[in-house]
Amino acid sequence: GESTPAGPFVPTKEDYQKVYDAIAHRLANETDYDDGSYGPVLVRLAWHASGTYDKTTGTGGSNGATMRFAPESDHGANAGLKHARDFLEPIKAQFPWITYSDLWTLAGAAAIQELGGPVIPWRPGRQDKDVAACTPDGRLPDASKNQDHIRAIFGRMGFDDREMVALSGAHALGRAHTDRSGYEGPWDFSPTVFTNDYFKLLVDEKWNQRKWNGPAQFTDKTTSTLMMLPTDIALIKDKVFRKHVDRYAKDQDAFFKEFSDVYVKLLELGVPFESKPEDRIVFKASE
Ligand code: HEM
Repeated sequence: GESTPAGPFVPTKEDYQKVYDAIAHRLANETDYDDGSYGPVLVRLAWHASGTYDKTTGTGGSNGATMRFAPESDHGANAGLKHARDFLEPIKAQFPWITYSDLWTLAGAAAIQELGGPVIPWRPGRQDKDVAACTPDGRLPDASKNQDHIRAIFGRMGFDDREMVALSGAHALGRAHTDRSGYEGPWDFSPTVFTNDYFKLLVDEKWNQRKWNGPAQFTDKTTSTLMMLPTDIALIKDKVFRKHVDRYAKDQDAFFKEFSDVYVKLLELGVPFESKPEDRIVFKASE
């Protein structure tokens, strides 16, 4: 008979679910890291890949995955994210058809879901770019600064005050490392479970300056084992931010819903999709 040439591989939603499942499987198995999970650092990789977006010039954002290259991989804010990129290399080898920029954002969505957070609808469409598309240093937030800086950085991406507070709730996950940012410690007692505990602790706990040789950070009065960055504390000092902190501390459902919406928006900044928002994939989490 006649042989039909194989066309280009066009992945289906089922193919992307397979990528999700492989990430979830690897997350469950690779527990010899931090508090037992690579999930938090995957969330941070997706955020730092996306958070370089500048709405005025349309540059930066997750489309491109330019953090694969120096100088962007060496930007101070990206210290430690090699752990996340390396974690995903076997997944990229297993599914060579996916772009790094789709893979990193898909992994960021998967990590939120696998750590008990809300569903993060996600869609493909990002293309990898070369080193020339690396963004300049300084586009990601500096934790030593105040609310004006938070508004300047996240305003540049196109977020409003409410969205800035919702996004910050990701600090329910993970910890700071002295050999990466210089800061140290987790924000709450369950850094591998996505909750509204970050907001509860901001409101309920008394936060004192930590006495140490490191950069200025805050510690909880009750146990002295948790930490807040100056930018975290800015969320309770600023009246408008504080309103949303209080709301999310009281209402976990509202936080989950609003976090999902704003994290989806973050991961899509600057991506020239051909698909529509209603084409987003709702991944099934692992059991
Ligand atoms: C960790 C700063 C917003 C997710 C960190 C660390 C710093 C930081 C200094 C510690 C890094 C280390 O030493 O390993 C900030 C500042 C923000 C901000 C200044 C805004 C004012 C966000 C947002 C997200 C996010 C919007 C996600 C939506 C995370 C996660 C970690 C983290 C999950 C833990 C990473 C790990 O455990 O390795 N952040 N961040 N952050 N950040 Fe943020």
